[in-house]
Amino acid sequence: MKRAGIIGWPVTHSLSPVLHGYWLKEYGVDGEILRLPAQPEQFAAEIERVRGLGFAGVNVTVPHKEAAFELAQTRDRAAEICGAVNLLVFSKDGIQGRNTDHVGLYQSLQENLGELAGKTVVLLGAGGAARGALLALDELGAAQIHILNRHHARADSLAHALALNLTAKLLPGPLESWTALAPQASLLLNTTSAGMAGTPPLALDLTGLPRGAAVCDIVYNPLETQLLKDAAARGLKVIDGLGMLMHQAVPSFEAFFGVRPKVTPGLRAALVQALHG
Ligand code: ATR
Repeated sequence: MKRAGIIGWPVTHSLSPVLHGYWLKEYGVDGEILRLPAQPEQFAAEIERVRGLGFAGVNVTVPHKEAAFELAQTRDRAAEICGAVNLLVFSKDGIQGRNTDHVGLYQSLQENLGELAGKTVVLLGAGGAARGALLALDELGAAQIHILNRHHARADSLAHALALNLTAKLLPGPLESWTALAPQASLLLNTTSAGMAGTPPLALDLTGLPRGAAVCDIVYNPLETQLLKDAAARGLKVIDGLGMLMHQAVPSFEAFFGVRPKVTPGLRAALVQALHG
């Protein structure tokens, strides 16, 4: 039997076991995915332990993505640009670190909007999730990306850090710039944690967004964040965080179990049920 894990702290509510479990059944793969709760000081030892047990690899979630970056012996381009690793693949040659978060967002946006060539995007947030998002937006051809963050200086340093790696023009600013920028935006993308269950939502006025614009939130718990509710109420196109979640798992499943799985309505339904159950 092939085995893989999802390591994090806490990891109890991770949907990864539901996702991978669905595909294991769908494709008749003899495998399992285990939750691996580990506090930061236990991370390296836990990786060594499961590697020793013959695991194919692990998905890495909060708060270990930077530690996983450090631990990996080789890394893909996305991991290097993001400074974070969400997939560790074990082989006889060592530990490979990859970042598939941007792949998830790329696929989800492409499915819903197509390419973003020549378009202006407003991205909210300047944390780890924003880095992967910038990479995805750049690969989709966005011409200009305004990075707005509560702490303006963080948006500045993110734009500065990624400017050389990306083709899109990166324009950092404070959240207060939103109202002035809204009329230019084809897409508003939230990568902040505001709006996640138990946190207050971003109070953002969507009035200025053009009619054809889309709003995407990478938060998927709740699935319909206040931001997406407001966008839907204005008749704007809405993209929730489940698409990204499902697509980021495709390369992981393939690396662990040797089958490239498909994202289907059935998978989405299973995740919605798990979220509401
Ligand atoms: P992640 O790796 O998930 O992006 P992070 O690095 O902690 O997590 O970043 C969280 C992001 O959400 C940051 O951009 C943070 O803004 P600050 O850098 O100004 O702290 C943003 N964020 C969190 N709560 C927020 C809130 N209530 N309003 C606005 N932005 C918020």
